[in-house]
Amino acid sequence: MTETSTLTNPLRAGLRMQRTPEPCAVVIFGATGDLTHRKLVPALYNLQRERLLPPGFSVIGFARREWADDYFRETLKRDVEQFSRSGLQESLWNSFAEGIFYNQSSFDDPAGYEALARRLAELDEQRGTAGNRLFYLATPPESYPVIIGQLGAAGLAHSPQGGWTRIIIEKPFGRDLTSARALNADVHNVFDESQVYRIDHYLGKETVQNIMVFRFANGIFEPLWNRRYVDHVQITVAESVGVEGRGGYYEHAGALRDMVQNHLMQLLTLTAMETPVGYRADAVRDEKVKVLRAIHSMTPEAVLENTVRGQYGPGTINGQPVPGYREEPGIAPDSLTETYVAIQFSIESWRWAGVPFYLRTGKRLPKRVSEIAIQFKAAPLMLFPTGPLSDIDPNVLAIKIQPDEGISLRFDSKVPGQVGQIRPVTMDFRYNASFGVESPEAYERLLLDAMLGDSTLFTRSDEVEESWSLITPIHQAWADAPAPQFPNYEAGSWGPHVADEFIERTGRKWRRL
Ligand code: BG6
Repeated sequence: MTETSTLTNPLRAGLRMQRTPEPCAVVIFGATGDLTHRKLVPALYNLQRERLLPPGFSVIGFARREWADDYFRETLKRDVEQFSRSGLQESLWNSFAEGIFYNQSSFDDPAGYEALARRLAELDEQRGTAGNRLFYLATPPESYPVIIGQLGAAGLAHSPQGGWTRIIIEKPFGRDLTSARALNADVHNVFDESQVYRIDHYLGKETVQNIMVFRFANGIFEPLWNRRYVDHVQITVAESVGVEGRGGYYEHAGALRDMVQNHLMQLLTLTAMETPVGYRADAVRDEKVKVLRAIHSMTPEAVLENTVRGQYGPGTINGQPVPGYREEPGIAPDSLTETYVAIQFSIESWRWAGVPFYLRTGKRLPKRVSEIAIQFKAAPLMLFPTGPLSDIDPNVLAIKIQPDEGISLRFDSKVPGQVGQIRPVTMDFRYNASFGVESPEAYERLLLDAMLGDSTLFTRSDEVEESWSLITPIHQAWADAPAPQFPNYEAGSWGPHVADEFIERTGRKWRRL
């Protein structure tokens, strides 16, 4: 879609579109890495295309490789061409690239940070960035403490001339409760919590932000959103991809750390939270933290009862044979890392007592699909005959996160005709059909929010610790339990059979997606 057609799109008429931050410089640590090239710079370029970046906006890449400014710009140009959702427009790129620079240094060399400070001061003078800095840690997490320490030592944690300084920290934030606490302590030695933006890109997805709008901008759903009407909730994040060449990282993470601790827990808290007192960062995050506090951390016995783990073996996806996890590069042939997890959480609150929340995620499942399904209780009394003619199912509200973003409500309806047949039908809302525009990438929204100083969609220190305090006992119990029989599901299937038995023991079923 061209810019003109977006601006004149009648479906968007009346929407306030401009949110422009103050002039600033973004410093990306790990500037030669995948994240910078596939996501961050294409996202910044798209913000520029939408005229959401301030004049003088500048980017400094900070990394070890011996690259020059021009070489850095050239590689980024190729990546924007490939990964930007809008392609690359030459003249726009040229003006954007004028603000891109490269600072070569190892992460532990004080001279590199002195050079960075000089470059930032020059940009303040030459491009008017006014002392406003956004640091972005896109390096492997082992480097976070050293970079944070060096920024502090170089006096870069606070702006020299009354501007602002903020830091975005990528996931994973720690690998268990102890390391997350230690990292929070390192961060707080140098930065105030108000400067810190822990990123979880799921919160940047339009459909995830819409959970709050759906719940709190509408009057009719909230009265139903509780144990009286809801039977259970299913949160699914299914991926068809495998570990995509990230074996070295994934082998030490596994699905629980890689997906559940962050993305799925975010979906859970947004679904279960109470109404915040306002749409403000701390009000929203207070309510999310309360949900996590209301979940009791599991004993080892409870872990074995309430979780299932799996690992894929060879199989077929979209008609193509794919190798098993243990045959992927960088993976031990006897690896016990899980690529599939299902968990049943209980939220001990008045709203949710007795309503199970089922979470499942896995790699090499048949397709990429993420949704939150609120399954309501059945009608209290069935007036209509059930049987082969009638297929009466309870109501389900499905919030489709991706792809086919939207919301659908399933209810039962009479089939036209003389036979009293009943069948479930759905009422659908689709983003594409209703708004006619492509949603921005999650990173676009989150980078912009950080530049604007809005941390609503970022994770606070207590939130990340609460989340780890639920996940760490699961890891520990798994490590102490007898080794699982892996692989236990075929690539291209919906996960291990035990996961079906796990939910079916309570008379429920995973949704077919
Ligand atoms: C990342 C995980 O955080 O999220 C990946 O590290 C995963 O393993 C990815 O594939 C999924 O993100 P999305 O936006 O494609 O659902």
